[in-house]
Amino acid sequence: WVLMVTAQTPTNIAVIKYWGKRDETLILPVNDSISVTLDPDHLCTTTTVAVSPSFVNDRMWLNDKEISLSGRRFQNCLREIRNRACDFEDKQKGIKIEKKDWEKLHVHIASYNNFPTAAGLASSAAGFACLVFSLAKLMNLREDQSQLSAIARQGSGSACRSLFGGFVKWIMGKDEKGSDSLAVQLADEEHWNDLVIIIAVVSSRQKETSSTSGMRESVETSLLLQHRAKEVVPKRIVQMEKAIKNRDFSSFAQLACADSNQFHAVCLDTSPPIFYMNDTSHRIISYVEKWNRSEGSPQVAYTFDAGPNAVMIARNRKVATQLLQRLLFFFPPNSDTDLNSYVLGDKSI
Ligand code: DP6
Repeated sequence: WVLMVTAQTPTNIAVIKYWGKRDETLILPVNDSISVTLDPDHLCTTTTVAVSPSFVNDRMWLNDKEISLSGRRFQNCLREIRNRACDFEDKQKGIKIEKKDWEKLHVHIASYNNFPTAAGLASSAAGFACLVFSLAKLMNLREDQSQLSAIARQGSGSACRSLFGGFVKWIMGKDEKGSDSLAVQLADEEHWNDLVIIIAVVSSRQKETSSTSGMRESVETSLLLQHRAKEVVPKRIVQMEKAIKNRDFSSFAQLACADSNQFHAVCLDTSPPIFYMNDTSHRIISYVEKWNRSEGSPQVAYTFDAGPNAVMIARNRKVATQLLQRLLFFFPPNSDTDLNSYVLGDKSI
């Protein structure tokens, strides 16, 4: 027999960024972060996990290519899940698995991303969230989403936020072992569904400095990171929660843009400095800033992760349509810019 579970998980985009760990192994951050999870039909990972007595070892395929499972992060997640596995019985199929048997059973995992891996579109977030969720279903875990998020966190920090839809906060926690470093939902998918997300794929090439090594270097060398984590983010988290609760787009956009810019300032403050954005990214920022100023209040928020791709959040569908038209006019893909395409990350327009 073979027992199988398939799950689909969208990626999430941080509007208050996670940058820096206080514990590298457990993946414990130096500050809280807040993100928005995209709709499941765009930028998602689909993962099928299977278990069978005939499997002789654990194996995984990512986009049809077999990958190694020896990495510490994967092994930590799998161990946490196996430890919490529960009895399972399917009388119709005659399958009975006791808690203690899960350790002896091997898993096969097939995972697909519908977007470029490691292009700064947070594929590890969707990937680990989906992996943990599907394995947890397969092994019949009783844990709730927040508890599962603390397992996904050990795969990749940002993954913990993809266990929920809507707006999500990753609480940094205080416990040394990380038991209270987990994600909670701030507002569900329906709460603020006017927002439309457009991603300008400035480059789909693999980034030069991974988030993991980039944030390690920032923790070791950037004084601005210390100031940001202690003084800036705690206040911004409170303000951002309020903006989301009240659907206050002006505050939301101001906070998201400022936080993205400070995160990239921390990267510049790192020694040696890390450059994630390029000229096209900077031109997009200037363009959005000018537009927002000419309207008298923000219409579009921008945010950039560890890569040059611009994530833009329009306040409603009308603005999103205008934004896309203007972007296509001023920043046409495949022209003299290094822009490849635009992706609609949320409700289509
Ligand atoms: C810039 O979650 O990819 O996207 O925990 O080392 O796997 P690891 O890093 P990762 O970092 C994401 C950083 C970010 C900001 C964010 O998503 O909050």
